[in-house]
Amino acid sequence: MRADLSLQQTPPFSVPARFLVSAPLFSLLAALVMLWYGPEMISHRWTPELLAVTHFLTLGFLAMSMLGSLMQLTPVLMGMVIPRATLFSGIVHTPLFLGSACLGLAWLLQINQLFSIAMALLGFAFLIFIMIISERLWRSENRHVTRSMMLLAVLALVITASLGLYLAMGYAFPAFPLVRQWTDLHLSWGLLGWVAMLIMAVAYQVIPMFQITDDYPAMHQRWLGWAIFACMLTLSLAYALPVETLKTVSSILLAACLMIFALTTLWVLQTRRRQIPDLTMMFWQLAMVSLVLLVLIWAISSLMNFDLPVLLGALFIHGFAMTTITGMMYKILPFIIWLHLSTRNKTLRDEGKRESQVKVPHMRKIIPEIAGVRQYYLHLISLILLLFASLLPQWFFHLAALSFLLAQTVLFFNLAKAAHFYNSKIIELETEHLIP
Ligand code: HEM
Repeated sequence: MRADLSLQQTPPFSVPARFLVSAPLFSLLAALVMLWYGPEMISHRWTPELLAVTHFLTLGFLAMSMLGSLMQLTPVLMGMVIPRATLFSGIVHTPLFLGSACLGLAWLLQINQLFSIAMALLGFAFLIFIMIISERLWRSENRHVTRSMMLLAVLALVITASLGLYLAMGYAFPAFPLVRQWTDLHLSWGLLGWVAMLIMAVAYQVIPMFQITDDYPAMHQRWLGWAIFACMLTLSLAYALPVETLKTVSSILLAACLMIFALTTLWVLQTRRRQIPDLTMMFWQLAMVSLVLLVLIWAISSLMNFDLPVLLGALFIHGFAMTTITGMMYKILPFIIWLHLSTRNKTLRDEGKRESQVKVPHMRKIIPEIAGVRQYYLHLISLILLLFASLLPQWFFHLAALSFLLAQTVLFFNLAKAAHFYNSKIIELETEHLIP
């Protein structure tokens, strides 16, 4: 099931980079909101500040980096060409950036019109992205399981965004009822459908390829994505009818799927053949441990009949999703910088201008390993403090917000520095008039 990389299909650097570098700006914003509003903002699930922070993270950080990674990975992994990639990425990035900011600000400033603006911008960004990516994936000749899982994840995004827009109408137009009974379904499709399935789709291909491990078991790859999707459909049915037993059974099966994915990934990572410590591997392991903890805590709290929405949200969004994506950022950005610069050097060699080549450092040096490891520990500390803060907000909330701010600042700095390094090399080449 292992697929080859189609490196010649790689899009221009700016296509994924603009998404990856702007993602931590939203987590920084989320941390600032947390510091400003303090522990009262998690006094219950529906405070406007918590909803704003949730969407700075789920749209601003997660969707932003996932869309950017898809624009880089689908051509390389699936061999498909995105038409006018630079224009396409700009048309999606700008409204996604502004729309995520407007949605968060609409909650913080309580301005109804901002909800309408956010809905228009986000609706437009997702519509364009979904249309192009799903058409390309559908027509791709690649038959790796990653393709069908990506299609399912994109379908889950359609449902999440539609439900989100519908819910947002309740905020934008006072006469429109806020259909809060759909919120759990919206967040389930968002987190379990869109985020988890896309991470799984990518993991099946990039973990064996970049971590040099065994493949995931074939049965696992073939069925787990479909199982999650089927459970999400029955869960939706349970909400629509509504049938409590169906809801419980679907939730238990979904939790079991997540547990199987987490444990299998930890096992696959154990089969790693390269012995040098690897930063992305540390992030993968932390993400999977978070997922195991999430399922265990969810099971215990459901059995004992108490609700822990903030703790579970923090474990999923920060512990599982942001951790996986941060680890991937440390792999993707240096890889594309190295690839683009090496390709330019090859062109120069082919043209007989060997002396004009630029020096391309090893991938592990583009973002120095030590800078990434330091950021990993800051990320880990902020996760632990956030978990404590969700249980004892008065004691830990400000500390958690501060450490989160620090971790995300360092992440932004690491990524921005790598992008700046690439741009300076390109300027070096251009000033010598070597690039036509
Ligand atoms: C078009 C994009 C989106 C819009 C317009 C939107 C809108 C909304 C609205 C209006 C609510 C509040 C519902 C209420 O007050 O009951 C909400 C809740 C929520 N949304 Fe979204 N959303 C979008 C995308 C997403 C995505 C992609 C995710 C996850 C990946 C997500 C995760 C959540 C979560 C976790 C909550 C519940 C927060 C809580 O319980 O405190 N949303 N969304």
